[in-house]
Amino acid sequence: MKIAITSDHGGNQLRKEIVQLLSERGFDYEDFGPKTDESVDYPDYASTVCESVVDGRFDRGILICGTGIGMSIAANKIKGIRCALVHDVFSAKATRGHNDTNVLAMGERVIGAGLAREIVSTWLDTSFEGGRHARRVEKLMKLED
Ligand code: RB5
Repeated sequence: MKIAITSDHGGNQLRKEIVQLLSERGFDYEDFGPKTDESVDYPDYASTVCESVVDGRFDRGILICGTGIGMSIAANKIKGIRCALVHDVFSAKATRGHNDTNVLAMGERVIGAGLAREIVSTWLDTSFEGGRHARRVEKLMKLED
């Protein structure tokens, strides 16, 4: 599984923690920055990662900003993206099993690194359940038309 990760300035520290986790766990990932702590605009970074997921270069995306909210709003405006803003392990598992989310958003100013690491691991390790959820995801994607 190939993972693309990015943040804005509000998510830089947590992004570095999650990059460390991806590396420790041996995932194939690319860190899309930003490379400095300079203030940047989260839609620019969200769109780069989400477009790389939509075009198939990456299987999953991880977006981090101060709250995770701006990143998740931006992501869900891009056709083909199902992004969940997640700050607990239960939702991380449920949104993979039920919504087949391909992008995860989190807020560095909302949760600590320990919980964020558990959320990311759970989200990456959980498979889509299909069945009745597949029908619902299909209906979700039709809302884009
Ligand atoms: C940046 O200050 C902050 O607005 C951003 O990181 C994010 O929380 C937006 O939703």
